Amino acid sequence: MTFITFEGIEGSGKTTQIRLLMDWFKARDIRALLTREPGGTSIGEQVRAILLNPINTEMTPEAEILLFSAARAQIVREIIRPRLADGWIVVCDRFADSTLAYQGYGHGLPMDDLMRITEFATGGLWPDLTVYLDLDVETGLRRKAATPEEWNRMEAKEVAFHKRVRQGYQALAAQAPGRWLVVDAAQPVAAIQEQIRARVKKEIRK
Ligand code: TMP
Repeated sequence: MTFITFEGIEGSGKTTQIRLLMDWFKARDIRALLTREPGGTSIGEQVRAILLNPINTEMTPEAEILLFSAARAQIVREIIRPRLADGWIVVCDRFADSTLAYQGYGHGLPMDDLMRITEFATGGLWPDLTVYLDLDVETGLRRKAATPEEWNRMEAKEVAFHKRVRQGYQALAAQAPGRWLVVDAAQPVAAIQEQIRARVKKEIRK
């Protein structure tokens, strides 16, 4: 029914906001499934382990996008499409826009190649709503540094990489304002959640 994705740089607070939104669905008896990318399926979680393992320093950007896309091809067909067809709301922590922002703007891979690979992986599925939590890179990375045991291969990239990713998200949101909700993630948790719920309410009434 409604496909909602969350996007943002590291430390932007996606996890907290998604959890609060899932609580809200639960309290209203709305059938909603939470999943994440890369991962969300047995195959996807195995691919995630390869992608995020800090030991894999030699991974090329081209190999990286194909692995992210492989995990995506699996989750779309195994989980997302069937649940949407059954009338569920599906919430995904990251989706194809992460590829455009990280592999496209971050690594500078050609956008037309990324779009072709992504369309193939998703079978043309795009979110109805994408919530983007916008935060400056220094604050995001500082928040993440508080939990170094969760530090992954992507997060270990240089600050300039994350700055390009943020600019990429802002550009993507500006290109499709109807699909994106941009929220200032420096606000208090409750204020952010309020804006998300207001927009989700409109989306699920459609
Ligand atoms: P996270 O979901 O725990 O934040 O970690 C996933 C990391 O993978 C994060 O740094 C963003 C990155 N990523 C990409 O680079 N491309 C993608 O397509 C996806 C889904 C994630």
